[in-house]
Amino acid sequence: MSTLTDSAPWQALIEHQAHLSEQSIRGLFAENPQRFSQFSLEAGDLLLDYSKNLCDAQTLNLLDALATKAQLAKAIDAMFAGERINTTEDRPALHIALRSPDRDTEYGQLVHQTLDQMESFVNRVTSWQWQGYTGSPITDVVNIGIGGSDLGPAMVYSALANYQLDGIRCHFVSNVDPAHIEQILESLDPATTLFVIASKTFTTMETMLNAQTARRWLLDACSDEKALAKHFVAVSANVELARDFGIGNNNIFPLWDWVGGRYSLWSAIGLPVALGIGMENFRALLAGAHTMDKHFRTAPFKENMPVLMGLLECWTLNFCGAESRAILPYSQLLHLFPAFLQQLDMESLGKSVTQNGSAVDTASGAIVWGSAGTNGQHSFHQLLHQGTHLVPADFIAIATSDSPNLEQHQQLLANCFAQSQALMDGKTLDEARAELIQQGLSEEKASTLAPHKVIAGNRPSNTLILKALTPQALGSLIACYEHKVYTQSVILGINAFDQWGVELGKVLSTDIFAELAGVGETSKFDGSTNALINRCKR
Ligand code: F6P
Repeated sequence: MSTLTDSAPWQALIEHQAHLSEQSIRGLFAENPQRFSQFSLEAGDLLLDYSKNLCDAQTLNLLDALATKAQLAKAIDAMFAGERINTTEDRPALHIALRSPDRDTEYGQLVHQTLDQMESFVNRVTSWQWQGYTGSPITDVVNIGIGGSDLGPAMVYSALANYQLDGIRCHFVSNVDPAHIEQILESLDPATTLFVIASKTFTTMETMLNAQTARRWLLDACSDEKALAKHFVAVSANVELARDFGIGNNNIFPLWDWVGGRYSLWSAIGLPVALGIGMENFRALLAGAHTMDKHFRTAPFKENMPVLMGLLECWTLNFCGAESRAILPYSQLLHLFPAFLQQLDMESLGKSVTQNGSAVDTASGAIVWGSAGTNGQHSFHQLLHQGTHLVPADFIAIATSDSPNLEQHQQLLANCFAQSQALMDGKTLDEARAELIQQGLSEEKASTLAPHKVIAGNRPSNTLILKALTPQALGSLIACYEHKVYTQSVILGINAFDQWGVELGKVLSTDIFAELAGVGETSKFDGSTNALINRCKR
């Protein structure tokens, strides 16, 4: 047992769960008419309803004690103070500095200089002063990046579709599969296309190969290397490599090692977003995140949205038997949000050792998955309702819509709320049988069919409501999840800011690539890998 699982709050939570498991969430509502007001809170433009979790006041007391024992307050201060909390890479994790209005700190100066550089560039492009090699303005921006250099900007750009500027479209290429870039370039004109090569390291294989393909595509059209300066900009912490690629100093936007890839959308990695929605809206996104940062830093744990979400995730994973979390945005514009959260959550919390190198003997992070509602209702929700896995869900709803089609928006909300209600309430055998009899079935037929209609219920969920899908609200929502992840990492004692696990596959693929590209059959690897390579070569 580790000091965490051995601790008094952890042991008390085990006992508490045994007691609480005799209850149901539905029963807790019946007992306490004030449950919603006690188990919900607002921060910025967000409302979190966590009343549909199997938890009571004592659960919160014990989780609060667990957070205190883990010195969460100290860890939050350490992050904001710029301490080197990313210990394995010996760096701070200062994404919070990227959205702070404070210019007067060492980091603030760098951040605001870069925002100003972005602003002047965005203004030149969007006012058509920046022209391509034929003198035409830019109509299409292609971001080439992967992981944190793709998922965040792509998700935000898509979520803020209602803020997109006329005259500029953004596209996102990430996959090394040539089909991805080819499909996008097919419809574009080299003379009016701007590429943003987004890579913190400027060594990521997928991004480098796609960038070379884009470069060839442009040069095939104009045969003039000088044109590169008009069509390529880079965002990177590795200025030297960006320069070696042929990008001029003025076209390189800096990034710093104290910004993790999956936390970088607030930096110049957000350049395609700023080009697509304008700098004012990009700054509003930052302001929304900053609002959540202040809340996270100052609110007591029991009134702190990200802390509560992190503690409840720890509760469902470690004490209630859950393994995954479904992210269910009831908003088509947020359809990329689950994919973005997958990297944020799973790359941060997918760890097996603690900061001091000892084994993690608890559940680390959840398997995060999901898709936009209502589509999921017609595919995987069946398993959520009647499968044998306990899958907690985060429902994300937008209270208002920009669409004049009020009826469809209300249907969307109705379905969102119905799903969390159904997950909680379920349907008993008696209820199922009575329903069937009422529909005219005989006693015998009703009894045969009823077990198939039973829905266990008691499945936990959170519901987050945004007043509107504005840049501010979206900024707060993303920051809320970032801090939820940090909270969990502090409780578990792990480093949320490294990702050593992704390295092995990268190294192995280099050797495999050499064999695939080489002559003859290979016998260099295990039987399966050899056979797969040789089969493809044949
Ligand atoms: O391989 C994983 C990873 O390092 C992510 O953490 C990162 O977001 C992504 O690759 C892209 O890295 P880069 O921005 O350096 O190209």
